[in-house]
Amino acid sequence: MATDAWDGLLLGATLVTLADDAGYGLIKDAALGWRDGVIVYAGPRSGLPSGAEAGADLVIEADGLVTPGLIDCHTHAVFAGNRAAEFEQRLQGASYEDIARAGGGIVSTVRAVREADEDALLAQSLQRVRALVADGATTLEIKSGYGLDFDNERKMLRVARRIGEVLGITVRTTFLGAHALPPEFAGRGEAYIDAVCDWLPRLHDEGLVDAVDAFAERIAFSIDQTRRVFEVARTLGLPVKLHADQLSDGAGAALVAEFGGLSADHVEHTSAAGVAAMAAAGTVAVLLPGAFHVLRETTLPPLDAFRSAGVPMAVATDCNPGTSPLLSLRQAMQLSCTHFRLTPEEALRGATVHAARALGLSDRGRLAVGQRADFACWRVSQPAELVYWLGGPLLAMSFAGGMRLT
Ligand code: NIG
Ligand code: FE
Repeated sequence: MATDAWDGLLLGATLVTLADDAGYGLIKDAALGWRDGVIVYAGPRSGLPSGAEAGADLVIEADGLVTPGLIDCHTHAVFAGNRAAEFEQRLQGASYEDIARAGGGIVSTVRAVREADEDALLAQSLQRVRALVADGATTLEIKSGYGLDFDNERKMLRVARRIGEVLGITVRTTFLGAHALPPEFAGRGEAYIDAVCDWLPRLHDEGLVDAVDAFAERIAFSIDQTRRVFEVARTLGLPVKLHADQLSDGAGAALVAEFGGLSADHVEHTSAAGVAAMAAAGTVAVLLPGAFHVLRETTLPPLDAFRSAGVPMAVATDCNPGTSPLLSLRQAMQLSCTHFRLTPEEALRGATVHAARALGLSDRGRLAVGQRADFACWRVSQPAELVYWLGGPLLAMSFAGGMRLT
């Protein structure tokens, strides 16, 4: 290997490679080398090829831990305004469903998004994504779903793409037209689904859609309506995922599994049959402990059933103005440990390896030769500290595709 062409070399830290299917894969006093945005060496410093250090364009001495860059596989980070007033209402006893039925909830964010022009929406959303990046995220999924008409869904997806360009991170976009019924379609759910099915190919033609999601729930869309949207996704070759079984068991997990979907998300109320269908389809369970925490939910996802069926569990922020105004994926990992009793290793795997899989990405999530040079350096000495500290400036620096982010 011609080591003189390496673009960067990080020396001295402990790597948390997650290279195998179990264990942290720790390498002490390690070296991590990359070229053209891809890892070319991840091993002990003592095993570096001779001349590697002298030849690298950039050499950084670091201590602490280096993990794969964190991957937030479920966010609604593009939105306008906030819903702090609803949080107060819920503290006084109103439920999320009560507020949605009274015309608040998602629809109130829809009003704010429709009023904001593209640049204003970008400016507001960038602040949140910068916060996610400042705590280790290097890849993000961002959904539409607060426009609920063609032009405003398009505006959201364009903003999501622009965020990736401005910040130099990977943003995977998800079309979530079937998120809520907009007021102009009140009482006409089927007609709204017709419209969603019409917009999807047009947005896809513009290169704005990487995946398709829906909210299958008694306050949103039925399984049959969701199926109609998924069928359009299938004809376009787009992968699907679903807000499934969050507030009630609506057989959402089984539906997304039937379509060979990437992930079923929330899944607090998923039944044994849903778990079995996910296992058979290889569908990831995306745990969203921020929404669980903020809504003060009590029904836990079927964690042991996921474990024993071998369903991979990812962890994401669900960053959104209603149920999860959470601006740190590391904090979501922390909540997954405290509320769901994930082990610190499961939480880290959930925000790296399994999150990559939930996005259909196989080029990241581990520190190994051939993976993208996306990594985060932390001012901690053991992996459990990542989920032990609540807040705090733990991130020393991060890289995406071999380029320095923070
Ligand atoms: O993932 N469940 C539906 N969607 C979001 C909430 C969106 C909102 O309330 O604005 C969620 O929890
Ligand atoms: Fe969500």
